[in-house]
Parts: sequence; structure tokens; C-alpha cells
Amino acid sequence: MTAQNNPSSPPADDAKVWSGRFGEPVTELVKRYTASVFFDQRMAAQDIRGSLAHARMLARQGIIADADLAAIERGMAQIADEIARGEFVWNLGDEDVHLNIEKRLTALVGDAGKRLHTGRSRNDQVATDIRLWLRDAIDQVLALIVAFQSRLLDVAEAHADTPMPGFTHLQVAQPVTFGHHLLAYYEMTRRDAERFADCRRRVNRLPLGAAALAGTSYPIDRESVAADLGFEDICRNSLDAVSDRDFAIEFCAAGALLMTHLSRLSEEIILWMNPRVGFIDLADRFCTGSSIMPQKKNPDVPELVRGKTGRVNGHLVALLTLMKGQPLAYNKDNQEDKEPLFDTADTLIDTLRIYADMIGGIRVRADNMRAALAQGHATATDLADWLVKKGLPFRDAHEAVALAVREAEARGCDLSRLDLDVLKAAVGPVPGAAGLLGPDALAALTIENSLAARAHAGGAAPDAVSAAIAVARAAAAKAASATP
Ligand code: ARG
Repeated sequence: MTAQNNPSSPPADDAKVWSGRFGEPVTELVKRYTASVFFDQRMAAQDIRGSLAHARMLARQGIIADADLAAIERGMAQIADEIARGEFVWNLGDEDVHLNIEKRLTALVGDAGKRLHTGRSRNDQVATDIRLWLRDAIDQVLALIVAFQSRLLDVAEAHADTPMPGFTHLQVAQPVTFGHHLLAYYEMTRRDAERFADCRRRVNRLPLGAAALAGTSYPIDRESVAADLGFEDICRNSLDAVSDRDFAIEFCAAGALLMTHLSRLSEEIILWMNPRVGFIDLADRFCTGSSIMPQKKNPDVPELVRGKTGRVNGHLVALLTLMKGQPLAYNKDNQEDKEPLFDTADTLIDTLRIYADMIGGIRVRADNMRAALAQGHATATDLADWLVKKGLPFRDAHEAVALAVREAEARGCDLSRLDLDVLKAAVGPVPGAAGLLGPDALAALTIENSLAARAHAGGAAPDAVSAAIAVARAAAAKAASATP
């Protein structure tokens, strides 16, 4: 019989809090395999905060004495201080952040420390800690999205009227402006922010009081703990409260979408800064060189954003898979929720920070954008639209302009460079088309007119882009003031 389960001898210092029931200690490997303290110590501040709210409630309800509460508060203040100064000794044998702190508390304040866990289980404790931690992480992500959007809008505003080719199938399609193009990413990240804010509402509910799974026999007051911790509501079912991690999955899903959007932008940045495209240049501080090729300037940061998107998508799948086979209520599987969750938040926060700086510092090569627009017959649709407005059915107009494009291709020039006579001859096979064409048809082929024609809300015209930026700025100001 070992010292730690011999009822006549006091438990050894490294005995588990639950070791009384066991005939032998766990092996070193099992100890390491089951411990989470090396990653869940990140939640120490939340663990202390949750414990203090629980202890205050226990005292209010007369479940522990006021003197115990005072001792717990004193001990926790010291522990917080020790952690902040890097002096707290985390012990693998004490499994997780919860037991490490509780054990230190008892060492500091004696029996009051042992009373803290009254009416509580690590199951509702850990669920509370994660929610507190994630709530803070969401608030950081939301603030960083707003900061990123603000830099994005600055660049969009500066280039509200800078023409660039819009692409479909990565082929030149129609003129847009660079500002308009960037606003697409503003819209994507606006929806991302909505998703995080919505997720926050479901994160912000209190599990404490569920105890291990069935609630507790003490006269607890869950609403007051919720109010103390800033939760908007309590979890309404004790089994659900300790077992589900859907709120963490939602966060990772919102994160995967945000990263997917930034990954798409990264792909474009990589493409745009390829010397054959040359639409933008990235500041040197976001690029690296090659150890062998002296001329290289590689877009490492956007490439890594694209790469890290795979990592975040992986975390989402990991959490979904973690959850899918679990019967009610708590299972130790859930300990595996933290690393993917933490890494998702870390990746989002770093990525948003770096992106705000990177997008704000790009150099736009408007001349190259315009040169690219002069090559792909980008205003062909405008000529077709012009013919339609003169009375030609759209399908005939499409056919006529397709013939004109073939003529331009044969001559090795852009459609907009054809003389009126050549244009008329080219559309000849389409009845009625040539007769409609006059000098003002050529005006329809200019980039400026093509853009200006799309002045409706959401369109590519510089005026529409400026109006969209004004709306975005107003929304961003509102979001910034609403961020908790
Ligand atoms: N470290 C554990 C976790 O992260 C805390 C809960 C432990 N609960 C238990 N019944 N073993 O999930």
C-alpha cells in the first residue's frame, strides 16, 4: 500500500486530489499523457476570476463563511501575482490549471482553499474558463478586424478611381477600380465580424452550477455568478453546460472563413506582385530573399497566411471530430479542445495584425493596371450594351461584338483601337449592326466611360465606390464604438 492511499498516513505532497479511491499511482507516462497544465495554464486568469465569483456566491449564500472568502481572495491575489511574475511553479502531477491553482491556494490559506470546490466540479469550471477566455479572444479579433478594415478602406479610398482589370476565370473581363476590388474584401470581413459577434452571444453564457453533470445540492445562485462574470445568461441544462463545445467550434468555423477570405486576398497579392503582372509592390518588411538567388523578393507573409488557413481549417475539423462521437455528459476527450482553439485564436490575431500593416503599406502600380486593361478587350460588353441601347437585341449585339473582337485579335490589337470603318466591316454579317454604329460607339469603349456607366449601388464606378466607402466608414465607426 502506498503512502498516498493509506488512510492512516497523510497524502504525499504529489498525491492527486482524487487519489483516495485508487490502489496505485498512475505511471509517469499516464501522468504526462493525461495532463493539460502545459497548455491550459493560459487560462489561469480566467480560472482565478471564475473561482472568485464562485467563492463570493458561496459566501453570499451562506455556504462558506465570510472568513473563508476573505482567505480565498487573499490567496488568489498572491497566486495571480506569482503567475504574473513568472514565479508560480506549475506541476505536471497536478494535471491542469485548475488543480494547480487550487493546490497552491490550499497551501497558502489552508482549509478555506479546500472549501472553494464546494458545489463545483472541474467540468463546469473548465467550461467556464474556456468561455471567459474565448470571450476575450473574440473581442480582440473583432477589434483587429476593424483595424484591418480601416487600413483597407484607406487604400480603397486612395484608389477609388484607379482602373484595373476585373477578372473572371483569371482572364480580363471588365474594368473595375482597385478601390472597388478591395471593397469586396471589406464586405467579406464585415460578414466575418458579424459571425464572431453572433458567436460571442452564445459563448457568453455561464456553465457554473452544472457541477459534474447534474447540478448540485447546495443552495447556489447561478444568476448572480453570471452577472458577476459578465455573462448574459446561464446555460440552461447542466448536462449540456459541461459537455458541449459547439461555441468553440463556431469560433473556429468563423475563424476558418476569415482565414479563407484573407487567403484569397493573399493569393491575389502574390499574383499582383509577380513581375509579369506588376499591379502592386509589397513593402520589403513583408518579404524575404532567397539564400541562393540574389535577385529574389518573395511574398512570404501572404504565402504564410494562405498556408496557415489550412492549419485553421484543420482545427475546425479537429473540434468537429472531437465532438461527434461523445455521449453526454463530460468526457476527457474535451481536454483536447484547447490547443486547436488557442492556436486558432493566436493565428487569427497574428494574421489580422500583420495584414493591417501589410495592406496599408502596399504600393499600387496604376500604370501597369491600366496597361493590362488595354489588352483584353475589357470593354467589349460596353459596345454590346451600346448596340442594345440603339435597338439591337442583346444576342445579336453579342454576336456583332464577338466578330469585332475576332477582327481585333487578327490585327493584334485591343478592340478599343479599331477604327470605325473596320468595326463596321467586322460586324457586317449581323443584320442591322453596322448601320447603328457611329463615332460615339467608340466612346463606349473607353475605360472611363465603362466605369462611369456602372454608377448604381455596389457598382464599379468611382462615384459608387466612394459612396460605398462612406457607408463602410460609418459602419466601422459604429462597430468600433459598440465593441465591448
Ligand atoms: N483538464 C480538464 C479538461 O480540460 C478539466 C476537467 C477535468 N474533468 C474531469 N472529470 N477529469 O477538460
